[in-house]
Amino acid sequence: MALEIKNLKVNVEGNEIVKGVSLSLSKGKVIALMGPNGSGKSTLASSLMGHPKYQITSGSIHLDAEDITAAKPHERAKKGLFLAFQYPAEIEGVSVTHFLRTAYMAKTGKKISVVDFYKLLKEKMQLLKMDEGFARRQVNFGFSGGEKKRLEILQLSILEPSYAILDETDSGLDIDALKTVSEGVNAYRSKMGVLLITHYTRILKYIMPDEVYIMKSGKIVKKGGAALAHELEEHGYELLKEDTHE
Ligand SMILES: Nc1ncnc2c1ncn2[C@@H]1O[C@H](COP(=O)(O)OP(=O)(O)OP(=O)(O)O)[C@@H](O)[C@H]1O
Ligand SMILES: [Mg+2]
Repeated sequence: MALEIKNLKVNVEGNEIVKGVSLSLSKGKVIALMGPNGSGKSTLASSLMGHPKYQITSGSIHLDAEDITAAKPHERAKKGLFLAFQYPAEIEGVSVTHFLRTAYMAKTGKKISVVDFYKLLKEKMQLLKMDEGFARRQVNFGFSGGEKKRLEILQLSILEPSYAILDETDSGLDIDALKTVSEGVNAYRSKMGVLLITHYTRILKYIMPDEVYIMKSGKIVKKGGAALAHELEEHGYELLKEDTHE
């Protein structure tokens, strides 16, 4: 059971941004994806989710052996893929509760009453130490940076995906929120594969990665264990100079 990416190439408005990425993420594993600004991490994430702006020109994506390279975003979500965006969108006029309930029903294919859903939501919000008033607010509207990231993790805990891509979910979180969010992720860790995109080793103290991949100019240029992230923090991307082999 894995999310298998093979030699993926992605164009954005005619420019090749992802230039042949291969990656295998098994359930229960965490891969940290690091790399300089503009290296193509978010582009890779969005193309895995099937965003129409990102054109896959070669390669394949398989989810538990099923080819989803051409699947629509909602089909991917239904099959258990989840992306927490680097820049979550504001949706004016839609409450957090309504948004999450709709997403829950779309993912599970089951109807759930407002009352029953609220019970589920309340339970998840307590785990993530979120204020109840949050549920009544409009999606991300006027949210602080950290609140938007917490909402992404609340969504994750409601949808319980099999594979989650977290795009800089740690950026902008205060120290307590970082711990809570990490606990939230760790609670599902055994049942889910996580692709954790981050610039900092701070979150990797709480969510220990099994592997660390470094992306540069659209390619994975280095792989290693958890220690690679610390090496990177110490030496910066100068580290890549010696052995950028691809
Ligand atoms: N329409 C476009 N035309 C040309 N280049 C684009 C277009 N859209 C995005 N890019 C470029 O693609 C590159 C990869 O962007 P991406 O957001 O994937 O980087 P990233 O690794 O997530 O960076 P960060 O760490 O800053 O989040 C960037 O250099 C960006 O400018
Ligand atoms: Mg990015």
